[in-house]
Amino acid sequence: MTYEQAHKLLKKYNQLHLLVSYNDLTDEEKRELLQSIAEIDFEQAMSLTKISKEQINLGEITPVTSVTDIDFSSEEKEEIKALGRSIICNKEYAVITMAGGQGTRLGHSGPKGTFMLKLNTGDKYIFELFVENLQKAYEKYGVYINWYVMTSVANHEETVEFFENHNYFGYPKDKITFFSQGELPITDTEGNLVLESKEKVFKAADGNGGIFNAMSRHGITDKLKADGVKWVLITGVDNILVNMADEMYIGLTARSNTFNGVKAIEKTIPGEKVGVFCKRGGKPSIVEYSEMDDDMTNARADDGSLLYKDANIVNHLLSIELLEKIQNERLPIHRAHKSLNYIDRDGNFVIAKDPNLFKYECFIFDYFSMVDDVMIYRVDRNKEFAPVKNKEGADSPATATALYNALH
Ligand code: UD1
Repeated sequence: MTYEQAHKLLKKYNQLHLLVSYNDLTDEEKRELLQSIAEIDFEQAMSLTKISKEQINLGEITPVTSVTDIDFSSEEKEEIKALGRSIICNKEYAVITMAGGQGTRLGHSGPKGTFMLKLNTGDKYIFELFVENLQKAYEKYGVYINWYVMTSVANHEETVEFFENHNYFGYPKDKITFFSQGELPITDTEGNLVLESKEKVFKAADGNGGIFNAMSRHGITDKLKADGVKWVLITGVDNILVNMADEMYIGLTARSNTFNGVKAIEKTIPGEKVGVFCKRGGKPSIVEYSEMDDDMTNARADDGSLLYKDANIVNHLLSIELLEKIQNERLPIHRAHKSLNYIDRDGNFVIAKDPNLFKYECFIFDYFSMVDDVMIYRVDRNKEFAPVKNKEGADSPATATALYNALH
């Protein structure tokens, strides 16, 4: 893109302030800035302006039902597990780990999966724990499950290099595929684009809901289908107790006629930072903790338990047919008010003291609006949920390590 083209484009969209420092840049920086402008989808970026002014409206919300192991007799459980087993053994199952998040709250500078924990079983990287998980599945089923790792533009190279340097922790290299998610611009509270540095428009990963479009763009869904995969588990990178090959869960979802399943844990503390399952307008849905009002957070059922207690642990199992159907759809965009340093309209570097900019993200669970129902499997939180999100306190390396050590 030339300067003239960029100027014309920015003028059209009233974003000329992005060129405020252009004349002070070196030739290399000028090229970088023009490239950064060329990569923006302006139609979409300008639609963010509307989101930046919209208020969040939760609409009509009702509770959901979930199933747990005690809902099934031992014979039923055996049948369900046998179905799950056959799916794994027939190589109809693959796993994707979403590792595109920034890990800002953890205070770790690299990709979150490269964070090391001091466990009973030794010092282990998070990615290494996932490989152990897959190796165990291999020992049990005799199948190397295909593993996909979703990275972001910001951490792709570092992630691939990390695996390369650690020899893929012994997992067959050809069974691991990396693909990168997309980005969305950051804006000011009026919806205007801003600069991150003098030569770069401010953009960030488009949220874990960016996964479906990224799978389409990189041909991942097509590849899975060509490989005969029928079910795909999608999980986050931050839960070190994730079970990457759960035959009960796979069997339950496969026989449910819903084409998708999710794992939930029981939320016991109203303020816990987890999204909860519910129904909206008859469709399955999740209300994210950041969007939940006090009434919903504290609502109680007749037995005194929380009315919205099935909490999301970012563990989605989707059929390949469903993935094909949704991979090119656009999910709604949510906005978050963040404290971020940036270059203002006059070219000055601003150090944020309070939330000052809007970050936009798609949420993976918003695909629910495209399905009639979802199979919700509630599991034991002490066995399946040990998130590493914050540097200290709740959901930190210390709490995750304690939960892991109690089991191992
Ligand atoms: C997430 C869930 C929330 C759930 C909680 C449980 C979503 C939108 N929210 O919240 O409902 O109760 O976990 O711990 O799923 N990620 C990417 N790319 C991105 C953003 C995130 O790959 O652009 C990945 C992260 O690496 C992580 C996962 O998605 O593995 C969850 O993202 P995070 O931003 O940590 O979500 P939470 O706010 O913790």
